[in-house]
Amino acid sequence: MTDRVYRVAVLAGDGIGPEVVAEARKVVEAAGARFGFGLDWVDYDLGADRWHATGEALPDAVLEELREVDAILLGAVGRPDVPPGVLERGLLLRLRFELDLYVNLRPVKLYPGVPSPLAGVKPDDIDLVVVRENTEGVYVGAGGTVHKGGPAEAATETSIETRAGVERCLRFAAAKARQRAGRLTLVHKTNVLVHAGDLWQRAARAVASETGVALDYAHADAACLYLVDDPGRFDVIVTDNLFGDILTDLGAAVAGGLGTAASANLNPDSSPSLFEPVHGSAPDIAGTGRANPVAAVLSASLLLDHLGEREAAAAVEAGAVAALPGAAGYSTQALGDRIATAVAGGGSPD
Ligand code: IPM
Ligand code: MN
Repeated sequence: MTDRVYRVAVLAGDGIGPEVVAEARKVVEAAGARFGFGLDWVDYDLGADRWHATGEALPDAVLEELREVDAILLGAVGRPDVPPGVLERGLLLRLRFELDLYVNLRPVKLYPGVPSPLAGVKPDDIDLVVVRENTEGVYVGAGGTVHKGGPAEAATETSIETRAGVERCLRFAAAKARQRAGRLTLVHKTNVLVHAGDLWQRAARAVASETGVALDYAHADAACLYLVDDPGRFDVIVTDNLFGDILTDLGAAVAGGLGTAASANLNPDSSPSLFEPVHGSAPDIAGTGRANPVAAVLSASLLLDHLGEREAAAAVEAGAVAALPGAAGYSTQALGDRIATAVAGGGSPD
């Protein structure tokens, strides 16, 4: 009997969320059996149905329970019959803020056998990670509306950046760069956002000189161009919440789409952290068996890595990668089975 048993909360959510999470779970179970750890899954039925039934996106009592688990695996939240923002703000962003998940780590990696929309790129050409600040910026919800509906209506949405918040994110990014090629690129818009941009720039220089990483800089608009034109120039990108949101959708697109885009919402200092595919709930294909579970599986690999199960994390990533060529020909479940088999046996799915 293993002494390593992890308590993982599962927020499968809406649309394709439950389908892809079921496969990720299967793969993690296979990894546990091979590498000698156990899983204690705790399911939560948060999402659109719960909100319709009770009016609650994230009850306080559930939040308190979630603080006690080792990690959280989330599928996707949101459905067209729930007004925009209710579940995004009330559930996902609330978890990011309440659990202080200040890093959103998003690998942008082109895997063999996955077609990129960019002409002539090979897997080695796209392999970077975006470290997105995850608790500040325009996401904090500071602002309001006055004279609503009238001719003088005005709305503000204030972006809040703190030195401490920016610095801890930069430290994480610098440490990540040191484990990789040692190149850190700050992405901001210092030519227009002179206040926040200056804070980021000074903090980034200080952290870079302290940690010895090479610091580079790109404006957010130019970074979009480079991501398409010359993605190989990036190793680790560090950026604010909103730029990171936008840039990582572009990153997912250049790396072959949302089917393989994984993310980790981390509090590197304490557990639990939250792992989720970058994709949404895709209600249009829910229940058709066409959802690609690989992004959820790769998010589960990040989860295992964060729990310290490095070998298992690598095996899960390798299993997913081995199953990718021709993945479109398999159903969600068949693909999950192939990855789980590869992980269990340590070989390729065939
Ligand atoms: C993401 C999503 C979220 C975000 C939404 C659903 C609130 O787009 O994780 O990238 O904007 O952060
Ligand atoms: Mn997004």
